[in-house]
Amino acid sequence: MKRLKHYFFVAILIAGLTAGIGLLLQQVLARMPLSSGASLQAVPMTELFGLHLWAIAFLFSLIGGILLYSVIVFRNKKGDVTDGEYIEGNTPLELFWTIVPLGAVLYIAFLGGQNLQAVELKDPNAMRIDVTGQQWSWRFDYPEYGITSDELYLPVDQQVLLRLRAVEVVHSFWVPEFGPKQDLLPGGLVRELRITPTKVGDYTVGCAELCGRKHAFMTAPVVVVSKTEFADWVARKMAENPCNTDDQIACGEYLARGNGCLACHSLDGSSGIGPTWVGIFGTEEALADGSTVTVDDAYILESVREPARRIVEGFKDSMPVEIGKNLTDEQIQAIIALIASLNQ
Ligand code: CUA
Repeated sequence: MKRLKHYFFVAILIAGLTAGIGLLLQQVLARMPLSSGASLQAVPMTELFGLHLWAIAFLFSLIGGILLYSVIVFRNKKGDVTDGEYIEGNTPLELFWTIVPLGAVLYIAFLGGQNLQAVELKDPNAMRIDVTGQQWSWRFDYPEYGITSDELYLPVDQQVLLRLRAVEVVHSFWVPEFGPKQDLLPGGLVRELRITPTKVGDYTVGCAELCGRKHAFMTAPVVVVSKTEFADWVARKMAENPCNTDDQIACGEYLARGNGCLACHSLDGSSGIGPTWVGIFGTEEALADGSTVTVDDAYILESVREPARRIVEGFKDSMPVEIGKNLTDEQIQAIIALIASLNQ
């Protein structure tokens, strides 16, 4: 009878602690960006988080409650120096605390699988956007429209398929309000992430993988707009891209800038990691192996595609081969037009 009374009070203590801690944790969750429900993917993630926090509150209260109750109620009486009761195993209890947690863990794994399925649900009409992360900036290419942007514009209520790549080290794409997070890997490996934004608004993508000195500043604006506003933005960006006009030279400069060529090759004659493009077209250059080459269309095309093949004397093979892989022949022709224009 006395034992039943203890069980009763402990149960009340555990229930009270669970409710208090659980409600507190739910309040914390409600204030997290994830709970804004800004994407279809964030909703099941928030639900699973909520359930986990209740489980955490209960388990903490179960252990902490029993401990607290025992420390207070079963304290040593003053002057009592006898040993505690000796207990040798309890088969029903051991079976209970093996089977119940096993079932609970399996159930949580099932919920996790269900959740992952909801988050990775594919829409065949998803709009593709190529995302490139490099130290320390983001680039967004919309291959359907031939647009490159440093802001991620997204139409509301439309799934986008983000194809993520990194240039040199691992980065990680994360918009907290959208929920899921995905790494960007170097070496030509492409990772995918699907997002369906459901709320118009301004967000920020951050990099969630330590990637060097300016990692903390590797952010870019994410703008979710209505479908009509998105169409307007696309039209504006397409008009901005000189590669949609006849201006080959302007297109070449746009591509050279967008692909990072100008980090090593200057347009003003100053020396860099690679030869300057000023006055190089049509000249005879000495190569590292002692032979010479005329810098013409064929040599430039080859140097973009296979930078290591014939290196100009005095320079090292430092050009990433990925750059050549990303450019089409027409795009390289535009860059050649730019280089040729720098001879005057
Ligand atoms: Cu990129 Cu951290």
